[in-house]
Amino acid sequence: MLSRCLRTAPARQSVQCMQQFTRPSFVQAQLRSYSAAAPGDKVAGFKGTTGSDGKYTVTLIEGDGIGPEISQSVKDIFSAANVPIKWEPVDVTPTLKDGKTVIPDEAIDSIHRNYVALKGPLATPIGKGHVSLNLTLRRTFNLFANVRPCKSIAGYKTPYDNVDTVLIRENTEGEYSGIEHVVVDGVVQSIKLITKAASERVLRFAFQYAQDVGKPKLRVVHKATIMKMSDGLFLNLARDISKEFPNVEFDAELLDNACLRIVTDPSPYADKVLVMPNLYGDILSDMCAGLIGGLGLTPSGNIGDECSIFEAVHGSAPDIAGKGLANPTALLLSSIMMLQHMGLYQHADRIQAAIFKTLAEGKTITGDLGGKAKTHEYADAVIKNFQ
Ligand SMILES: NC(=O)c1ccc[n+]([C@@H]2O[C@H](COP(=O)([O-])OP(=O)(O)OC[C@H]3O[C@@H](n4cnc5c(N)ncnc54)[C@H](O)[C@@H]3O)[C@@H](O)[C@H]2O)c1
Repeated sequence: MLSRCLRTAPARQSVQCMQQFTRPSFVQAQLRSYSAAAPGDKVAGFKGTTGSDGKYTVTLIEGDGIGPEISQSVKDIFSAANVPIKWEPVDVTPTLKDGKTVIPDEAIDSIHRNYVALKGPLATPIGKGHVSLNLTLRRTFNLFANVRPCKSIAGYKTPYDNVDTVLIRENTEGEYSGIEHVVVDGVVQSIKLITKAASERVLRFAFQYAQDVGKPKLRVVHKATIMKMSDGLFLNLARDISKEFPNVEFDAELLDNACLRIVTDPSPYADKVLVMPNLYGDILSDMCAGLIGGLGLTPSGNIGDECSIFEAVHGSAPDIAGKGLANPTALLLSSIMMLQHMGLYQHADRIQAAIFKTLAEGKTITGDLGGKAKTHEYADAVIKNFQ
């Protein structure tokens, strides 16, 4: 890969190119366990254990804007459901260390110790100030796979009522490697980085995920017809890894076809998990979120080898912050994904059923869904709907 970089970049840019390729995040990526498969290897599960009180400790990043309000709903609902976890709130206000934006050590230590975190939205200044904290967290914990399920919600009418997609996005490289340079004035080169190590890691996770959640088909979404080397590598590795998962049917689809077919009729995608490089995943996952009513209803999980962070995909909604108007559903559904990741399936099922019942009743829903309920009234209704 490095030699290809040196071949394609003009001489005066090659030093910069080499520096970029040796960034610690990529070096680190190659040391991770997913890239080295031994026969019978399983994707690493949640490593946390309970304390002497029988509870797991979970790091909580409440976030900015509406973050504290929607986090409170999750805390209230978990407490009412007697979920065996205790929260460890951390402050992720960034500090500058050697000119770089870093997250306070206490927050990093907490996530390392607990292996899992729930995160509210974090505001990112536009065009100035610190770099995206979301990106910093992703790099710090090497969160290589972003998992986005999108399922139609009964009671909330959208053009389709049969959406049930799961999309897994490579989260660390591809078009988002940040390797860009000016070749000559008016000519800018941006490098899409695809490595065997990072691709194998997310693909193996995706196959394992498909097997575990009972969606027996894995589809790679790609554009290898045009990007023959980069997407070609991703696709070929998927073909190789599919041999390790004989119970999961493997196929592939071009990105443009996939977009057209999903928006035409999402139902053929209900038995599949889709996996793809970074940029395609970013766009396609938001497109699928649109099919079920938008980002306010969409959960996500960022999975790493050691630690995982679950978060709502919407932002901090500064326009409604502090007014009790926020819809906590996306963070709640993210917390359900977190419980499933931790193996707390019964609690996950019980809370999820209560959320869906509350939404289907439509009596106590927030303004963004056409209702009049305040955030805490919606949370109370969920608690009343526990079976
Ligand atoms: N994962 C994250 O932490 C994340 C994601 C996206 C944006 N952001 C940050 O959030 C800030 C605001 O971004 P934005 O305004 O572009 O997007 P946003 O998602 O915060 O808001 C877009 C619109 O959706 C509404 N909305 C969002 N979540 C809602 C909820 N739970 N309930 C009811 N309404 C909701 C908002 O009121 C607003 O009208 C920015 O600083 C951005 O960088 C963070």
